[in-house]
Amino acid sequence: MKIFLDTANIEQIKEAQKLGIIDGVTTNPTLVSKENAVFEERISEICEVVKGPVSAEVTSSNAEGMIEEARKLAKISEHVVVKIPMTQEGIKAVKVLSAEGIKTNVTLVFSALQAILAAKAGATYVSPFIGRLDDIGHMGMELIEQIVQIFKNYDYKTEIIVASVRHPEHVLEAAIVGGDIVTVPFAVIEKMFKHPMTDLGLERFNADWKKYQEYMSKK
Ligand code: E4P
Repeated sequence: MKIFLDTANIEQIKEAQKLGIIDGVTTNPTLVSKENAVFEERISEICEVVKGPVSAEVTSSNAEGMIEEARKLAKISEHVVVKIPMTQEGIKAVKVLSAEGIKTNVTLVFSALQAILAAKAGATYVSPFIGRLDDIGHMGMELIEQIVQIFKNYDYKTEIIVASVRHPEHVLEAAIVGGDIVTVPFAVIEKMFKHPMTDLGLERFNADWKKYQEYMSKK
């Protein structure tokens, strides 16, 4: 399973890159708005650090506008993936862009039917938002299971980015059901490292090593 970082924060991206476990980055207008940065410049900066797929979202609501934005974004770097909302206009844009070889990530996917439409239009990725489904009392991960099964049935090449991830359990379940990619906030990555038994084990090793060194120094 590939891990993408879901942020536009360059410090977090650099830190995650040093950990060596990040395959790409996803951004959205909300995440970019939290940063004090020019959108295109930040995307370029992220691409230089990550050297993997970096999703940058269009904000037009009609296909023509999305296509124009997408062509400009794609010129920033070969790593740019254009994020397109799951609307009829968005799907028209995906069809045109995929024919031009521009990579797309269809975002705001909340049903398997939407995922089928995106795949048929030639989307490189689909992003089902599981956390937001959980928020309204649905089982977000069931959607991932459905899409995994459908894409397998028809050998669709579109990859599934499990998005709107809120906690490490989401990452674990996504891996079990076979999501291709999980995009996670930096805080979730930090939590994934943690296990109380690791901390306890390390504490004991350090204490025993200290005792051993004291004993050896007295010999
Ligand atoms: C994915 O591409 C989105 O940027 C993101 O996962 C949305 O997550 P949220 O529901 O926590 O805003």
